[in-house]
Amino acid sequence: MRTLYLPIPQAPSRLAAWLVAVAVVFAGLPLLAHAENSERGERLAGQLCAACHGVHGHSESPIFPRLSAQTPEYLTAQLKGFRDHARGETDARSYMWAIASQLDDATIASLADYYSHQEPVHGTPGDAALLAKGQDLFEHGAPDRGTPACASCHGDEGQGNGTFPRLAGQHREYLQRQIEVFSNGTRANAPVMTAIAHSLDADEAKAVAAWLESR
Ligand code: HEC
Ligand code: HEC
Repeated sequence: MRTLYLPIPQAPSRLAAWLVAVAVVFAGLPLLAHAENSERGERLAGQLCAACHGVHGHSESPIFPRLSAQTPEYLTAQLKGFRDHARGETDARSYMWAIASQLDDATIASLADYYSHQEPVHGTPGDAALLAKGQDLFEHGAPDRGTPACASCHGDEGQGNGTFPRLAGQHREYLQRQIEVFSNGTRANAPVMTAIAHSLDADEAKAVAAWLESR
């Protein structure tokens, strides 16, 4: 009886131990995959992107947007947009179409993962009156003209959210240029932002871009 009985409680405990071991291995896999993905993204970013976008995406030149702490959803959408020729303003064509044509979906995912985990660049101060005007527009919009508050999509601090990009800490010249290319219809794959850009005059675009760069 004993010899028969003993293995029975042991069997489930061995099974339990085995199940725990399997669970640990499987739980570890996504972490491992994440680490590999991030490493691959880091390597490619250093080899292919840093020359223009800077180390860690902290670009120094306003021609090249900063990529650090950008949302992964937005980065992925933009790289696919360049690859599919959906984002077609002049600088996108000249600089990003050829590079993006070399990137498959897995590579795009690893680059988006890498840049989204880099520290953001924090603010360059500017003229106080200009910043106050930009902040007011960002937080409240221009209700008389139906311009919504930028914060309602881009986040209270301009930190971004999903497919709504981070704008905080971006070069002001780049931000102003994007408002211009939405408005003139050459960055034509974002109809909502195009309508909003149309509703801003040049002084407002300048003010809101300066405020965002200062964050
Ligand atoms: C030769 C310079 C150059 C290289 C190399 C380059 N880029 Fe770009 N990239 C640009 C420029 C210029 C723009 C801005 C285009 C515009 O103003 O329309 C841009 C825009 C982008 C954007 C859009 C950012 C935003 O805020 O909308 C992303 C994302 C991007 N690049 C990712 C990458 C990645 C990832 C790599 C490496 C695989 C890379 N770039 C390599 C020049 C470059
Ligand atoms: C209804 C939501 C919404 C509101 C409100 C909004 N945006 Fe956007 N904005 C977007 C989306 C979505 C994108 C990304 C478009 C794309 O995928 O190409 C974007 C992109 C941008 C970009 C380009 C960023 C880059 O890295 O290239 C700028 C600049 C911008 N918005 C400025 C503003 C400003 C300034 C305001 C307020 C006056 C504003 N947005 C209000 C949804 C919004």
